[in-house]
Amino acid sequence: MSITKICCIGAGYVGGPTMAVIAQKCPHIQVTVVDLNQERIAAWNDADVNNIPIYEPGLSEVVEEARGRNLFFSTDVEKAIDEAQLIFISVNTPTKTYGKGKGMAADLKYIELCARQIAKIAKDNKIVVEKSTLPVRTAEAIKSILDYTGNGVQFQILSNPEFLAEGTAVNDLLFPDRILIGGDASIEGQKAIQALVDVYSNWVSPEKILTTNLWSSELSKLTANAFLAQRISSINAMSELCEQTGADVNEVAKAIGMDSRIGPKFLKASVGFGGSCFQKDILNLVYIAKSYGLYEVADYWEQVIIMNDHQKRRFSNKIVQTLYNTVADKKIAFLGWAFKKDTNDTRESAAIYVADDLINEEARLSVYDPKVPFKKVLADLDYLESRSTTQNQKHIAPATSAYEACENAHAVAILTEWDEFRTYDWQRIYDSMQKPAFVFDGRNILDADQMKAIGFVYNRIGA
Ligand code: NAD
Ligand code: UGA
Repeated sequence: MSITKICCIGAGYVGGPTMAVIAQKCPHIQVTVVDLNQERIAAWNDADVNNIPIYEPGLSEVVEEARGRNLFFSTDVEKAIDEAQLIFISVNTPTKTYGKGKGMAADLKYIELCARQIAKIAKDNKIVVEKSTLPVRTAEAIKSILDYTGNGVQFQILSNPEFLAEGTAVNDLLFPDRILIGGDASIEGQKAIQALVDVYSNWVSPEKILTTNLWSSELSKLTANAFLAQRISSINAMSELCEQTGADVNEVAKAIGMDSRIGPKFLKASVGFGGSCFQKDILNLVYIAKSYGLYEVADYWEQVIIMNDHQKRRFSNKIVQTLYNTVADKKIAFLGWAFKKDTNDTRESAAIYVADDLINEEARLSVYDPKVPFKKVLADLDYLESRSTTQNQKHIAPATSAYEACENAHAVAILTEWDEFRTYDWQRIYDSMQKPAFVFDGRNILDADQMKAIGFVYNRIGA
């Protein structure tokens, strides 16, 4: 089957960029991205392409090229489902906040809604593709919903997890390490796999397209994220030991990374990993393992999260201890709020938890992030429900520049590794601060010797 019309349900951080790149690379395919969130769709359709709802380097150019040609954003979910031969489900799968599996399992209510809507609307055969990250064996549940609606339509379910990272999404989509497609062994299943392979083949070479059974594909996505997060918790665990022993975690990371079996990537010690997925996916993995009675497996992976929580708390504790055991009424400048550079996404950002700890200690925070609006900062803090909105607002204020954030501050905390932070006039910042002027570099981005030469009391992770 040759695909000419694609629908993607979910215009978020995955659905938006992924479909934009498919549309750019496959001008012969009409791609419609739908979402229930009208505001988000309106932003994707904004006449000024710089106002699209997701900041990703290079994304606005891709959207500009394809939008209106063969890339469309719409709230008309039913029409798009009806017309498409291939439907990606790219909705959110957050950690459950209620009921069985609360705090651990993935909440599949949005996925189930999509399946029911597809079942209701479809009048001809469809390929349904799991793009969202899902617990292993979810395809079974989706198939069961689709097959029992009784309208005689044949559905093929594929698993095609997304491996893009935010901040590098466009590049990751254009030059993926691999495309993973899981499907059924039946002839119909193999045909569906081939149809999706053909879409990707427009720009991805065949040796990078891997096909597997459904369950391997679903589980590989959780496994990949667990392995990536585990590397960060492993190096962060070593960072604490470095701080006690005089070793330097940057040097240790370099030394072990030169072993080709270990490799140099994903060994940056930090204030802790954030983002919408690592924690959610590992908790989900832990929950799945427990549900099969595999308690050792569950405990093994849970430790990655425990270590990450410890790393965030350790950073805020260090600030309090170093500032003579009190930060009450002291101004602390936060440079960065996003969970990593080059994104406006703040989900599970370490900054939120460090800020919450410091507000508990009555600090006054001044926040500057190049891409995160202050209302998002406040919303993130309110979401924790640690205190009232009014209380949060008393302790945190926006700054329009890093220089403004740092003025009269007792300390600067670097929470995100934005490139511009390296290029600042740090002498100017030092001159405007209270003395002693402390810097807590949660991303190890500044030059320790230069900072000390200026006069800062400079602290970083793992040294
Ligand atoms: P997101 O929250 O940015 O986007 C999801 C969108 O789906 C939202 O705009 C929401 O309004 C919409 N939606 C929910 N239910 C809907 C429905 N029934 N009909 C129409 N629209 C609906 O989420 P995201 O970051 O794009 O993640 C989506 C999935 O991809 C998750 O499973 C996630 O684990 C996975 N993933 C995310 C990333 C990443 O970097 N963010 C990378 C790989 C995989
Ligand atoms: C991660 C994976 O890298 C993607 O492959 C995956 O598709 C995605 O999760 C997902 O499933 O959502 P993302 O969370 O967007 O992507 O970004 P990462 O680059 O992985 O960074 C995650 C967090 O780890 C960030 O807070 C980052 O600052 C931190 N990190 C990363 C470190 O602290 N040290 C490192 O060496 C690398």
